[in-house]
Amino acid sequence: MTMFNLFKKKHSPTPIFSVLGTDMHCHLIPQVDDGSKCLEESVDCLNMLQSVGYNKVIITPHFQHPRFPNKEEDIQRRYAELHRQATEAGVSIEMAGVAGEYRIDSGFKQRLDEPRFLKIADKYVLVEFSLNQQMMGSDEMIFDMQMMGYEVILAHPERYPYLGVMGQRMEQLKENGVLFQINVLSLGGFYGEEPKQRAYEMLERGWVEFMGTDTHNTMYGQALVDLSNDRKVQKVLEKYTFLNNTL
Ligand SMILES: [Fe+2]
Repeated sequence: MTMFNLFKKKHSPTPIFSVLGTDMHCHLIPQVDDGSKCLEESVDCLNMLQSVGYNKVIITPHFQHPRFPNKEEDIQRRYAELHRQATEAGVSIEMAGVAGEYRIDSGFKQRLDEPRFLKIADKYVLVEFSLNQQMMGSDEMIFDMQMMGYEVILAHPERYPYLGVMGQRMEQLKENGVLFQINVLSLGGFYGEEPKQRAYEMLERGWVEFMGTDTHNTMYGQALVDLSNDRKVQKVLEKYTFLNNTL
């Protein structure tokens, strides 16, 4: 193999994520959170997702108090606009809806009092915790959601250092029926060595129901393209069963 082929191989997309089919976590509505900055960036990212094998995408902007004070109606309107413009720009990956990534924060209790969650597949609510400290009362709020009939998916559990893996806290969440979604880029060390180790450990324990890309911009897209050449990741996708393709 020539150097050129080596180079090309490393940077060409391989459709390894076709086994998942649907990406259910990304930030590709322009200018509504810390994700895509403009339509062109969204279009590029959507095409990148397709190039690594996804055939469907559900977009999940942040709902976070007070940083991203998004309102469900606005997000639905912005999503419809993106859908139209991206289609016009030739995007052919199926845009299968909009949901939210809801931060369990000081404003979350209010959401429970007047629930209008944008759900994934009309059933699941994607939630995230703060990355550096645990929110008091989060278990109770999750329990309340479950009592209201929502299936709760915790976004990237491998990214919360205070939860650990072996710790009782993580086991408690699983026992409470919380579904886990790991970021695929964690498997390549995108967020550091510790989240990577935790991600593999959770997979090994059979704790992971969903994989998401959490794509925010083309840097993530390029990282996905690079990761799509990783044999170890390909094996993981084949070894475990995920619910992405049921969406
Ligand atoms: Fe996210």
